[in-house]
Amino acid sequence: MGNSTSNKQLQAIIDDLTALVKEKNCGPILIRLSWHDAGVFSTGKLTGGCPNAAMRFAEAGEGAFGANAGLPTVALDLLKPISEKYCPDVISNADLWTLAANVAIEVMGGPKIPTRFGRKDAASADESVESQVGRLPDGDKGCPHLREIFHPKGFDDKDIVALSGAHTVGAMHADRSGFEGKWTDDYLKFDNSYFTEMLSKKYEAETTAQGCPQNRNKESGTVMLISDLALLEDPFKQHVEAYAKDQSVFFEDFTKAWVKLQENGCTDLRDDL
Ligand code: HEM
Repeated sequence: MGNSTSNKQLQAIIDDLTALVKEKNCGPILIRLSWHDAGVFSTGKLTGGCPNAAMRFAEAGEGAFGANAGLPTVALDLLKPISEKYCPDVISNADLWTLAANVAIEVMGGPKIPTRFGRKDAASADESVESQVGRLPDGDKGCPHLREIFHPKGFDDKDIVALSGAHTVGAMHADRSGFEGKWTDDYLKFDNSYFTEMLSKKYEAETTAQGCPQNRNKESGTVMLISDLALLEDPFKQHVEAYAKDQSVFFEDFTKAWVKLQENGCTDLRDDL
């Protein structure tokens, strides 16, 4: 594919994704889709798990993981008109999910994330990782758990705080995770309000109807998970404070950690489609 044809096709996909995010306000779930595709990666006792769109196969493997509830259904239904138009001939599904998240972040006011291409799609559910356990984080656990999950992916404490800042957008759904509520007042704006609100609001512990423990700010109704408020412990807290104080520092650190996450375990990525 010549570069100019490829650039035109890339722009057409970006335009379609932009329209989708604006029309359906679905940016947050597209970010979560890319995060859970790439986030199973590990180099500890568990190995492998590069982004490969294995969640396309909803009946087994990653598509059936409890942690991915809502992704093979809601997120992939939203993307369907675009994936049917371009995948796999123009772009792989795994690259489309990566790009969709990055378009969503920018459309919602966040940083412009550079996307590279060349992720290979799983051919069946068999190319899933064995289990979510030890690979994807639980919201009802604290710092030791976050480190156990993120350090083997190549992320340090600061990266954990920066990446968690994605919860500045989106919501928890009772029928997906058992948690319920949005993290911030303006949950469709990608900014540093996750950090400013975490520091300024008071939270009270509660249990959802599904039996999941979380923390709610009574005045505004926003919610923080146990894993979110864990970031107020030392040595994580200094980064929460830095990101609350200066949004551009958050955007810069988030971009570095997020691109690394989206490219973890991938080889031979290229700048063009
Ligand atoms: C640090 C550990 C993390 C935990 C425990 C966690 C947990 C959760 C949970 C329980 C939900 C709610 C799912 C639902 O019910 O729909 C959620 C949603 C979300 N997560 Fe995380 N997450 C973590 C890290 C991340 C990271 C690293 C990102 C991306 C960089 C991310 C992005 C999102 C987004 C955007 C949503 C909203 C989805 C929507 O609105 O449908 N999370 N997360």
